[in-house]
Amino acid sequence: MAPVLPKRRRAQDGSAAGARAPSTQPPARFPGVTIYLAEPRMGRSRRAFLTRLALSKGFCVLDEYSSEVTHVVMEQTSAMEAVCWQERQAVAAPSDWTLSKLVNMSWFTESMAAGQPVPVECRHCLEEMLEHGVCEEVETVRCSERYQTMKLFTQIFGVGVKTADRWYQEGLRTLDDLLKQPQKLTQQQKVGLQHHQDLSTPVQRQDAEALQRLVEAAVAQALPGATVMLTGGFRRGKLQGHDVDLLITHPQEGQEAGLLPRVVGCLRNQGLILYHHHQHNHYGDPGHPAWQNSTMDAFEKSFCIFRLPQPPRAAVEGPQRPCQAWKAVRVDLVVTPVSQFPFALLGWTGSKHFERELRWFSRKEKGLWLNSHALFDPEQKKCFRVTSEEDIFRHLGLKYIPPEQRNA
Ligand code: UTP
Ligand code: MN
Repeated sequence: MAPVLPKRRRAQDGSAAGARAPSTQPPARFPGVTIYLAEPRMGRSRRAFLTRLALSKGFCVLDEYSSEVTHVVMEQTSAMEAVCWQERQAVAAPSDWTLSKLVNMSWFTESMAAGQPVPVECRHCLEEMLEHGVCEEVETVRCSERYQTMKLFTQIFGVGVKTADRWYQEGLRTLDDLLKQPQKLTQQQKVGLQHHQDLSTPVQRQDAEALQRLVEAAVAQALPGATVMLTGGFRRGKLQGHDVDLLITHPQEGQEAGLLPRVVGCLRNQGLILYHHHQHNHYGDPGHPAWQNSTMDAFEKSFCIFRLPQPPRAAVEGPQRPCQAWKAVRVDLVVTPVSQFPFALLGWTGSKHFERELRWFSRKEKGLWLNSHALFDPEQKKCFRVTSEEDIFRHLGLKYIPPEQRNA
């Protein structure tokens, strides 16, 4: 995405400090902060002025909204308009796109005065009103039928924003509406809907660990020596998650080939799999969208719904479904060759926001391309060899950040 460059450069940028506008775009001084100035109420010339000001202070400003944007600055925009704006971006964006913070002009002004980004606090935050219900009109939007329906539908396994939007346009509003129209659903969505109650209940750490043990046993049977690592939010120390992310590898490169179907077959024979969707790896296919979209990777994986037996005490204590002997849980099984394991581990540990910032830092500050497969030096045209996450941080010139500190 091309950074905004002012059309006409002036000697004076008009900032309080009277800093001179740079003759070329200055290097961004604040990795992790990318500003987008939303224009509707701002006007073009004011936007250009503010852009010059921010650039002169070393901020990164983009002229189009993209997944790199961390702060959207809006002026004289009501919270309702802001929410509508964000809702439109959400519909257009990929489902894993973390939306940026919506801030008002006070954040921008304070940051410019401080010469660095100030932390976002309540007073800066348009969305804050949304969270605390201060603004009645925002509540109206938040509760709006469309918002509620989109939220409901996109929470179903296998339903993305596009599908949810199409169903909304077709007049569908509730889960019952969907159940009455099974011809509209893919097999994956049918299973998602069938187990919706379980799948929308948070997975507890003890369930995640139980699942890891079940997968470990299957992996040991399919390929002795292969290992299973619990990643995602649980590796970051979270006690609950929406799914369980397991990374499988073998210390000898190449041994992992063909392993996943055997593991899934073994789990299936034990009656532990309610649904699975296998995806082959597509390494070495530079034309594949995965190579252009850093949030996707090319590993072989299986998107599963497990039938996790529940310990007997849960059957007694469970308040809503007292006799539940098992629970449906979403599990992602990902297989990686050992040479790529540290990158896969770093990528799958998340959080998404942390990964986005780290990749952004790597590219903009170090000129290196990081993804879940490699750290690539585009000048030297070579990949770094690593054997641990620590190695990756070292190559990036960073102190090791343990998983618990990656919850950004
Ligand atoms: P999750 O979506 O599972 O998030 O992806 P999480 O942090 O574990 O959160 P909960 O607790 O389940 O809700 C985990 C990490 O795996 C990466 C994501 O970018 C995130 O950093 N990921 C996910 C991939 O790299 N590829 C994928 O296909 C899916
Ligand atoms: Mn997860």
